[in-house]
Amino acid sequence: MAGVWAGENVGAACSPSPAGPELRQAVLAEALTGLRAEPKTLEPWLFYDAEGSRLFERITALPEYYLTRTERALFERLAPELASRVGRATLVELGAGTAAKTGVLLREFARRQRGVLYQPVDVSASALEEAAEALTREIAWLQVQPQVSNYVTEPYEVERPAGMQVLALYIGSSIGNFSPELQVGILRNLRRQLRAGEKLLLGLDMAPDARKTVAQLVAAYDDAAGVTAEFNRNVLVRLNRELGAEFAVERFRHVARWNAAASRMEMHLESAVPQTVTIAGECFSFAAGETIHTENSYKFTQAQVDELLLAAGFALEERWADEAHAYSVVLAQAV
Ligand code: AVJ
Repeated sequence: MAGVWAGENVGAACSPSPAGPELRQAVLAEALTGLRAEPKTLEPWLFYDAEGSRLFERITALPEYYLTRTERALFERLAPELASRVGRATLVELGAGTAAKTGVLLREFARRQRGVLYQPVDVSASALEEAAEALTREIAWLQVQPQVSNYVTEPYEVERPAGMQVLALYIGSSIGNFSPELQVGILRNLRRQLRAGEKLLLGLDMAPDARKTVAQLVAAYDDAAGVTAEFNRNVLVRLNRELGAEFAVERFRHVARWNAAASRMEMHLESAVPQTVTIAGECFSFAAGETIHTENSYKFTQAQVDELLLAAGFALEERWADEAHAYSVVLAQAV
């Protein structure tokens, strides 16, 4: 993946979205770069084709995957307090996807203000369309202004209607997919778009501790029904379809492991046998037991959250967590 977009030139967001040949080019470039690397990797954004997005939605409903339901329950609890702390606002969301959980917050703001402008930013045009459609149907007083942009590498715009504060949302533990350096970079870019005093709501998954076991964490990424395994392997299905690769998908095993030193869950695809795969005329060989690293999902201690906010130009204002302290939502202020 390219480095973090460096701010300053806030041009138009890159639209129309890279749907056809451009997206294929990006997928090809990312696949070649990742599979040439040692150890082999594939970036997590490659998971989210239409089928991958469907599989992720199924993951969020699994008994083992506590993240989504815990965050939604926290939103239901904190929405009124959040809205009164923030005041009249427009909501900007990075990595909005289909914005399934954002509705809880939007409803609260829309009702209080008799009108709210929601600005979701996402790489997936189809997810944004779905979000806009569902939310405007469901919530009165809501105006949706979607923007297709890879917020890590591309600029995006933040609109500020008269008399409104910006409330930025970066929820769903999306930040966990990025390295600590990129986490700071993404939040710094966001900070540049905000005025001092404007707020950020950040949703993060917590590191294991006395109340949250490693086993629970691993189970969330290796569920009994095998949905996460299918989600992981789907990246190979996608490369087969879009790039004419010929991965023998069933010969790759889903591996989910806790990396304590880096404080992250990792997903890998482990080649069960020696095999070779050709992509765009280039041959890639796998030894038996060799893995493709497909995802990191960082888990945070409170101290790490504080440090991250500080490095990005935010000050912590409030934090909420479930009873087990498995998941946390923090409100911070741009300083
Ligand atoms: C969408 C990045 C928050 O890391 O937990 C779910 C994706 N990967 N199961 C996460 C995911 C495996 C998810 N995020």
